[in-house]
Amino acid sequence: MPLVEAARVEELVEGRPVVRHVSVGGRLVSIMLVKLGGRVYAAEPLCPHARWPLDVFGTFTDRGGAKVVCRMHWGVWELDTGRGRFASKEAPRLKIYEAEVREGRVYLRL
Ligand code: FES
Repeated sequence: MPLVEAARVEELVEGRPVVRHVSVGGRLVSIMLVKLGGRVYAAEPLCPHARWPLDVFGTFTDRGGAKVVCRMHWGVWELDTGRGRFASKEAPRLKIYEAEVREGRVYLRL
């Protein structure tokens, strides 16, 4: 899988997501980046429940593990695995991308 540069680490503010559009095989893919506890996570920017944008309606925290809480209907998704809970049931997974930081830049393995 190729590494694609998505951002500089200094552009990311703790707990505040940004959405980047990267080209993968000639196709444009939207990916949300968020820095929590000094680590960078990458995920699809749409909530798996009803597709509301998580960069707008998500609250991000690393308490008890990195996660996003969607404020539309209060679903919760883990940012390292994509596993989710919605109304105390297992929810569809959030698509997670592998992100790595090298020399101050965030790369995605796509
Ligand atoms: S749209 Fe996110 S929990 Fe419903």
